[in-house]
This record gives sequence, structure tokens and C-alpha cells, in this order.
Amino acid sequence: MCGIVGYLGNKNAVPVILKGLKRLEYRGYDSAGIAVLNGGLQVAKCKGKVADLKKLTDKDLHEATIGIGHTRWATHGKPNDVNAHPHTSNSGDLTLIHNGIIENYDSIKEALIKRGYRFDSETDTEVLVNLIEDVQKSENTTLAKALQIALNQVIGAYAIAVISSNNPNQIVVAKKGSPLVVGIGEGEYFIASDATPFLEFTKSAVYLEDDEMAVINRGEDLEVLSIKDNRTIDPYVHQLEMDLESIEKGGYDHFMLKEIYEQPKSIRDTLRGRLLPNEGLVKMDGVYQFQEKFVTAQRIIIIGCGTSWHAGLVAEYLFEDLARIPVEVEYASEFRYRNPVITEKDVVIAVSQSGETADTLAAIKLAKEKGATIFGVCNVVGSSIARETHAGAYTHAGPEIGVASTKAFTAQVAVLALIALKIAHKKGVLKESYYHQLLAELDDIPNKIERMLESDAQSKYISGLFKDARNFLYLGRGYNFPVALEGALKLKEISYIHAEGYPAAEMKHGPIALIDEDMPVVVIAPKGGQYEKVVSNIQEVKARNGKVIAIVSEGDSEIAKTADHVIEVEDTLEEFSPLLTTIPLQLLSYHIAVMRGANVDQPRNLAKSVTVE
Ligand code: M6R
Repeated sequence: MCGIVGYLGNKNAVPVILKGLKRLEYRGYDSAGIAVLNGGLQVAKCKGKVADLKKLTDKDLHEATIGIGHTRWATHGKPNDVNAHPHTSNSGDLTLIHNGIIENYDSIKEALIKRGYRFDSETDTEVLVNLIEDVQKSENTTLAKALQIALNQVIGAYAIAVISSNNPNQIVVAKKGSPLVVGIGEGEYFIASDATPFLEFTKSAVYLEDDEMAVINRGEDLEVLSIKDNRTIDPYVHQLEMDLESIEKGGYDHFMLKEIYEQPKSIRDTLRGRLLPNEGLVKMDGVYQFQEKFVTAQRIIIIGCGTSWHAGLVAEYLFEDLARIPVEVEYASEFRYRNPVITEKDVVIAVSQSGETADTLAAIKLAKEKGATIFGVCNVVGSSIARETHAGAYTHAGPEIGVASTKAFTAQVAVLALIALKIAHKKGVLKESYYHQLLAELDDIPNKIERMLESDAQSKYISGLFKDARNFLYLGRGYNFPVALEGALKLKEISYIHAEGYPAAEMKHGPIALIDEDMPVVVIAPKGGQYEKVVSNIQEVKARNGKVIAIVSEGDSEIAKTADHVIEVEDTLEEFSPLLTTIPLQLLSYHIAVMRGANVDQPRNLAKSVTVE
């Protein structure tokens, strides 16, 4: 969590950093700060958002050509002005920004206090900057060397940038467990947690690997070193393909709404070149490479968190149904700590939009150690998870900036469906005619979503009726059980209404006690699967005066008779219904959140990419 930005060049660093921080606000937005060097150190920081910081910098900060900035998601110490980054060392020489957690900061702090250091904040970051200063003084060495020595004493995760008041021509950065990318422009360097802050200035970028640091000197080539042994590393310069338009709101009120409406495109982009219905083929290099592993897998374990875990649950149905491979879906955070039985015959699929989720990353490392084949499904190219896996397939959803995941979810389901189809076909366990029908239907899904998005009047109308509800229940069966979970998560995270997702049949084992006239129940009930049983579940809710909002296949007159409200989705094969039924649930949560005046793109307490445990 937290976003970091830095600049060294000929431009005024202040607006470059502020704009960059704004783009990284999805990573954390409880406080923000900036430090620049201009004949001396100037720091501005405060509790609040980048917009609050901007007011301070307009007043207090002069132009400078070197600086670093930070947007925070608090881990150590509550959000306030003092805990906001950057943090400066006791002598006033070193100033540092940090994304991550220093786990052994307590013992280091104690030792530093004994050596006369004092601390103003509750953060681990202030400990780190003073540790570097202490090392630099006692070893009488350069900042880069001191940083390297200090980092070898530190346990934890970090992406950091340090500047020295004595040297306005240098930024030193280091990475372990949190992302850090260096943008290389004409006579200028940028550093950031992802490439979006510098996209308009350069497309050349070096992604630092774990345990690497870089020394950025004005007018000199980038120097990358190993933190462990000081070895010089030849940096690989990526040419980014992302464009600026994809990271701006493009006329929508919120990124979330834009991203909901982008789904026809993001699924098409994800399927393009991979799904070839006319040739009866699914082409995926990453899967092809490990085809035998998939085909002979004794089981597939899917790991992820939040929405990505929900996509994994949909995939469980797809892989078992179509490819007849046993699947277990695990929260990465549970998997990593419960000594799981994993063998070389297991294939682990890690699903992650950001590719940076700490729990998923740690779970991958564990499964890898135990000999499993690890396959990644990530959205962010070059992310840590993409690099840590043996093979993978990207979702081509484009940058997802709204904290509530929407287009990444449907793109994940699309990729996982492709893999299931490819393996099922290779295993010969699917009837050929049905396989072809599935390919054609998947190909048509973006068109169906496009038509469904032509009007959101019904979801908006229903949102108006239920915006003040205190609780919601979401029910679904089979392929649509994960959709119920996902619908409930969307509502919770952006509107702060308590919501629970349940398998519809489980309702009578407990949640039915909650139902009364104040309980809206969203039932996902498209044709197919356990339709008749879901109809009975709706009647059970109605018999207890619950209010039913049903997501139904177009033209369904049966449920329309019983439910209070229906939202229709186009017909599709059951296997792909989550790709359609999810859409009205996204819109419902979006409209409710807007009507409640909530901050849709930056909901309280959350961050887009959870890079801490
Ligand atoms: O980047 P990841 O897909 O690994 O993130 C996992 C979760 O943190 C994420 O899906 C989270 O639950 C979203 N806010 C859901 O909308």
C-alpha cells in the first residue's frame, strides 16, 4: 500500500510529484507529503488527500528540480500530520519515503534511542531513515553504501527513496517486496510505485527486482546494484505500451463507472488472439508451455484475495465441470499459514489484478518451495506476481484505478474460462459440439454486455429504493454463488452497507432468521442450473416479507410474478453467466454508493493494492 513518487531532472519537481501522487492515490489516501531540495530541504505533509497537500505546497513550497512524494495507507501509527511521509533523520540530512513494513523496527528503534536518537512519529519509516543516518555517520561512507548496509539489518518489505540535503543531484532507491519502477526520460529520472505517474513523460522504464537498489545521479546513467552483495546489475529497460487515456476518467464521474462500461472492451482485449472460435482453438502460450502439467495435475489449487478469490471460485466450477480436474480455492492469507499439503503434481493458479498482493505473493513462494507448478493470472504487466510464477496469462483489462474491482474480475473469469476450455479440449473430456458451442458463446459475451450496458435505468431506480437499507443479503447457486459473494463485497466496500453473500440453499440454515420487511435480498437467478430451486428460495424469502431483487434471464415471467424487482440479463450458457450477472450488481452498488454520497473510487480504509499482510 502507499504510493511513492520521485523526480530528478530539469522540470519543476513539485507539480510532477503532485500529479504523480494523484495517480497513485488508489494505493492509499489517508495522508500525503512531499520533500524537495532547493538550496535546502523543504517538506510539506499533512493528514488527508493529495488535494489537501496541494493547498500546502501552493503556499509553502518553492520550485525545485529534485524531490520525493508519498501518499499513505497507514500501517504503523494513525493517519496524522506527524506520521505522514516523508520522514527526515535527526540531523536533518536524510529524507525518506517508504512503502512497506519494517518488521524489526522496534528493536532497531530501541538501539537507536540508546544511541541518542529521538523520534517524533510512531512510524517504522522514521526508524529506517535514522538507521541509515547512523550507519552513514559511523561508517563515514556514501548514502548509497549506508543504505545498503542498513537494509541488510532490516527485516520486512520496502520500496524506498532517500535524498540528502547535502546532495541535490541524487536520489537513492531500493526495493524488496513492494513495487518500484524507474522511468528514464531525456536528462531526467522518475521513480514511482507504478509507471502511471510518468507515462506522459517517458515510456522507458526499469522495474527493480527484490533486493535491488538504484543510484540515480543527475546527468549520469542509472546504476543498479544488488543490496545483498553490491554486485552491479545491468538494468533491462522496458518500453511501456500503456497510454495516458487509459488512466484518465474520460468523461465519467468516477473511475469505477468508466471501468464498468469498459468491460466489453476489456473482455474482448483479453480474448483477442486467444479465442479462435472459427478454428475451434484456444491459443495461450503460457498454458501451452505447461499443458502436460495441467492435463496430468492431480488437482488445481487457486489462490487469491477478495475479488480475485471470487474469480477463482467461478473457475472452480469451470475446471471441474469442463476439464474434470479437482479444484481447491484458497484465500492466499489462509493457505500460506496452514502448512498445506502440496506436491509436484499440483498446479497452483494465483489470481491477482495488481500482481502485488502480499498474501498471494507469499502463498506463491510457499507453493513453489514445495515443488508445485505456479501459473499466474495478473492484470499488471511486470508485477511481482507475474514475475514470481513459472508461467501465466495476463488479463488485458487495462489499468483498473477504482478501488472496487470490476473489469479486472470479468477479465479474470474470461482468462480462467479460456484455460479451462483449452485443458478440457486437450484432455478430450468435452463433447466436441459442446466445446464449439462454448467457444462461440464466450466470443459473443462482450456483445451481450455491451447491449446490457445500453441502459442502467433499472439498477438506478432500484438503488434509489434501497439506498438507505442497513443490510443486504445476496443469494446465488452454482456458478452464481461466487457472484453473490462478489455482489455483496462490492456493496460493502463502496457504500458501507453491511452485505452478505450466501449459497441460496444455505439460507435456511441460518440467514433466513434475518429476513423481514427491511431486508433486501438480491437473488441471482438466471435460467439454467438450479433455476427451479432458486425460485423456491425466492418464495421462502417472500413468505417472510423480505424484499426480493432478482437478476433474471431476459423474458423470465415466472420470477417477475414473485420478486419485487427484476433486472434482466441476456441469455447465455450457464458456464458464462457470471460474466453477465455480475454487471447489474456492480451498477447497483455503484449507484447506491453515489446516492449515499460515498467516495466511490477511494472508499474509506481501503487501498487498491494490499502489499502488507
Ligand atoms: O490485486 P489483487 O487482485 O490481488 O487484489 C485482491 C483484493 O485486494 C481485491 O480484489 C479487493 O478485494 C478489491 N477491493 C475488491 O473490489
